[in-house]
Amino acid sequence: MEFDTKTPKSVTSDPKSFASESVRMRWPVILTGAIDDIFKAISSTDDAEKQAEGKKIIEQLGSLKYEMLHDRQLTPIPEDGFPDETAAYNKELEQLGNPTWFQVPWLFAECYMYRRLNTFFTLTNHWKSYDLFARQKTDTFRTSRNAVVELAARYADIIKKIRADKDITHDPETEKILFTEMCEVCLWGNATDLSLLTNMTYEDIQKLQGSEARKAAEQNILVNNLPEAFALLKKAQAEGKKERRVDFVLDNAGFELYVDLVLAGYLLNTGLATHVVLRPKSIPWFVSDVLPTDFAALLSALANPKGFFESPTEEEKVSEKTPAPLAPKEVEDLLYVFQDWATLHGEGQLAIRPNRYWTAGGSFWRLPHEAPELHEDLKQAELVIFKGDLNYRKLVGDAWWDATTPFAEALGPMGPGSGVNVMSLRTCKADVVVGLPAGKDEELRATEGGRWRFRCQKMGLER
Ligand code: F6P
Ligand code: MG
Repeated sequence: MEFDTKTPKSVTSDPKSFASESVRMRWPVILTGAIDDIFKAISSTDDAEKQAEGKKIIEQLGSLKYEMLHDRQLTPIPEDGFPDETAAYNKELEQLGNPTWFQVPWLFAECYMYRRLNTFFTLTNHWKSYDLFARQKTDTFRTSRNAVVELAARYADIIKKIRADKDITHDPETEKILFTEMCEVCLWGNATDLSLLTNMTYEDIQKLQGSEARKAAEQNILVNNLPEAFALLKKAQAEGKKERRVDFVLDNAGFELYVDLVLAGYLLNTGLATHVVLRPKSIPWFVSDVLPTDFAALLSALANPKGFFESPTEEEKVSEKTPAPLAPKEVEDLLYVFQDWATLHGEGQLAIRPNRYWTAGGSFWRLPHEAPELHEDLKQAELVIFKGDLNYRKLVGDAWWDATTPFAEALGPMGPGSGVNVMSLRTCKADVVVGLPAGKDEELRATEGGRWRFRCQKMGLER
């Protein structure tokens, strides 16, 4: 905690905050969903020992939910093979005075919940690598079919044009427009977030995804520093640097990972980057976050698009709905996208680099001190794109900054001078916001209400 900002942090005791709503409403719903998932998994095995372990997991989930709803103390996380990690969480519990669920910093409590949840599985024989959220991730990607197909056609069209005539991107204006479009596509993918599904339906999510949704929501982009990011990549390209890497600190699997790959593939095919490093989580995290297995699952869905997108989701199975077959052109575009990304990955231009630090419990103000090797690695990239709301909260310390505080200031040790060129692509889903022009926060409170920060899908492309 010694490296954290001194600006007051978002805490669950603040009755008006999303922190308070999360601990009292959303997290219990997520735990209930987890119990349902394990029940389903138990019913699909006849291994008695696995069933017994599954029942124990359900008991632990129930206890955690009870503790939370009755404002009990957060208990120490048992050691599960990563002693330094659990020790760091438990040291912070002590430093916080062994807090209860309704009186604890929001960021730490939410990370603690998912890290403790993980031990319910790691401390078993049959459930060690079970991803509690895999079912939801797969279903939501299936539900995103229309936008996935629409983007596949757009992507294939752009890449074929680039391959046929490299000059398409040598017109600076065209290149800038395409770069902006690809980044906005990537940004909007962050709106598809299962940890919010507690109050959104799949139909709601679909409405957020297509090109129409993007156009209609342009005015929701509150901060846009894309021109600086584009200039930075063009400058490195003009200087003739041999290796020009762009890193994605990933957020959600499924549709968001798909649009991350759309942007990554665009950067690599145009030469705006020579390498892309994707940085996923190592354990199931915040419901939707990417694990290395989710990358493999996405590629295999694209490799067999009819098999994947013509299979019913869980919901469709219940309502006995059969998805319409994909049109031949749609299959062709999806296979084109698969081939392009599989080749970039196979040739080493697109790499997956997990790191357990992304599931630590503190803000990235601590990163240079707590993870110096990771810090050194991030410095090698021309640009590090942090996707999503949780990464944003970690970057700015999940603190009650004045909304006009410059992003660079709120970044603290990861700001100017850190050696890392940080860009955040974020849908606002929490209390913390920085980098707004004077009066904007007041204007939004007046027009959208006091809870606009996590109710209105406002976006930011902040550098
Ligand atoms: O706001 C709900 C929430 O769970 C936040 O606590 C968290 O920051 C966010 O959703 C996760 O969103 P994202 O997937 O964009 O990081
Ligand atoms: Mg997420």
